[in-house]
Order: sequence, then C-alpha cells, then structure tokens
Amino acid sequence: KRPAGAPDRSLARPVTKVGIVGAGLMASQMALLFVRRLEVPVVLTDLDQERVDKGVAYVHAEIDKLLAKGRISNDKANRHKALVSGAVDKAEGFAGADFVIEAVFEEMSVKKSVFADVEKAVSPECVLATNTSSLSITEMAADLEHPERVVGFHFFNPVAVMPLLEIVKGEQTDDATLATAFATGKALKKTTILVKDSPSFIVNRLLGRFMGEVGRIVDEGTPVTVVDGAFAGVAPMPPFVLLSLVGPAIALHNNETLHRAFPDRFYVSPALERVVAARKASYYGPDGSLDPEVVAMLEQP
Ligand code: 3HC
Repeated sequence: KRPAGAPDRSLARPVTKVGIVGAGLMASQMALLFVRRLEVPVVLTDLDQERVDKGVAYVHAEIDKLLAKGRISNDKANRHKALVSGAVDKAEGFAGADFVIEAVFEEMSVKKSVFADVEKAVSPECVLATNTSSLSITEMAADLEHPERVVGFHFFNPVAVMPLLEIVKGEQTDDATLATAFATGKALKKTTILVKDSPSFIVNRLLGRFMGEVGRIVDEGTPVTVVDGAFAGVAPMPPFVLLSLVGPAIALHNNETLHRAFPDRFYVSPALERVVAARKASYYGPDGSLDPEVVAMLEQP
C-alpha cells in the first residue's frame, strides 16, 4: 500500500550508488543499513582521512559482528564490506552516485555549504537527502541550482533498529525525488511517512515537549535519579538514557529550534544547557550509571 502522500512508485529513479556526507556514528550506521539493504556501493566522506577511515572501520566491524552471530554468510559479509569505501574528496567519492545523504553538524549554514559542494560533484538528477532532525528542507535547498532534488530523510537512533523514517517534502521537491525517497526507504525496510516541512517534523516535535519537561522537572529541584527511575518499566529507555542516545547537544538544539518557532510551547532547560556548555557527550558514564559530575551540573542550585 502506498504511504499517504507518496507519489506513484513508477516515478522513482534507480539507486545504484549511495554517497554519505559525514562519517560519524549516525552516518556510519546509515552506511551499514544502505549496504546491507541495497547492496550497492556506499561511499562515506568527511573532512579528513582519519574520520573517513573510522567510519569505514565501524561498518566493517558491525558486519563482522553479524557474521560472528551467524546472521549473514561469509560471502555476504565479504561482499558488503567490499562495497563500503571512504573518500575525503567528494568529487572523486560521489562520481556516479544517484543518492547522496548528509549527516553533518545540525546547523543550517553548514548543511547549505555541504549541499552546494555536493551539487558540483553529482549529476542534476542525483537525490540530495538530508538527515536533519529539525531544520527546514525548503531553506536548505533554496540556493541550489536544482532545489527540486532535495528531500528530508530522517532516521532515528539506533538506525538499525528503529523502524520509522520521516520523509520531508520541501516546497520545491519534485515527485521523482519524493518517489525515489519512498522507494529507497522501502528498500531499507523502514516504515515511511510523509511529514510537513515544519520545525522538527513530527517525532522530534513530540520529543521536544518530553525532553523540555524532563529538563523542567530537574530545574524545579527533582533529583535526576528520581526522574530517570520514574520511567523504569514504563518506556524502553529512561529520559536521560534517551537524551544520551540522541546526544545532549542535539537534543538541546532541537528544543532551541522549537522554542524559536513556538516560544510559548517549548522550554529550553538551563540544567540541560549547562551540560551542553560543558561539552558532555552523555549523561551516563562508561560504567553504565549516571555520571556524577554531570548529575552535579544538572542539580546545581
Ligand atoms: N545498534 C544496532 N542494534 C542495536 C542497537 C544499536 N545501537 N541497540 C540495540 N540493538 C539491537 C540489539 O542487537 C537487538 O537485536 P536482536 O533482537 O536482533 O538481537 C535489539 O536491538 C534489541 O536490543 P536489546 O534487547 O539489547 O535492547 P532493548 O530491548 O532495550 O531495545 C532499543 C533497545 C530498541 C534501542 C530500545 O531501548 C528503544 O526502543 N529505545 C528508544 C529509542 C528511541 O526512542 N529512539 C529515538 C530517539 S530520537 C532520534 O533518534 C531522533 C534524532 O533526530 C535525534
């Protein structure tokens, strides 16, 4: 059954090579999914060779884990590993790509300059997808020569497990691009939904209310362990585990974007701001318990 708002499938263009801008964790998780489901060449690019190598090594290691668990054959593991490569030079890496997705820093100016760069490296038909979690697709495409091939393609963490994919149509996105995005999402075995190009789309807008209230409860003086404990057995992840999975900075950025758009409805918590200002990457320590230094920061009177 065609998802609501998806154009006719016959308009979809084939995807024979995938480019990924960024080789961080989100990008590498996407690379793993693309190579396993589409079985086409996947090229990761980043600012330097070290980052690129790290991304490729992650994908190879995850494929090895699947092999060790007996989930895939030796042949398949070797085939998939050989399909993943990295490049610093986008023109070289993305030559012949028909689907490029970016997963770089969540900042409009960065995303725009990445797409301007990619546009020089690919054909006019190549889909430019963005994994942005909150920013406007229309604005991101506005200065490009071919804004009609830009589309939002928003995955959730962990990419391999979460079934949903939000597909976002910008004002200028054409039907062929949208159809290709839906067909690709289906090939990745994700549940695809068309969402409006509004701040944080659907899921992160809902999560923004949740995360804002988590911060507010801590700001009001409830200990962090009590807030986290309240969710035991109720949701798959306690709030600060989920905030750590998403990343403190990304979660805060989501609430800032939403607060700018709907100031009366979204809250930016000073407690969560303190943790991001201290550049903490998680609320939890490597031993799997709440990081006491971060808790002290959150509970600061
Ligand atoms: N990578 C790959 N696979 C993973 C994984 C990861 N990081 N984490 C878990 N898995 C796999 C496990 O291998 C296991 O697979 P199997 O059943 O085939 O062996 C399966 O997922 C279940 O894992 P577990 O039994 O260990 O763990 P749980 O039952 O606790 O489930 C979870 C893990 C599915 C991640 C669950 O905790 C959950 O649903 N959490 C909520 C996650 C969520 O809400 N994500 C959305 C965040 S918002 C976002 O991403 C938006 C962005 O824009 C910021």
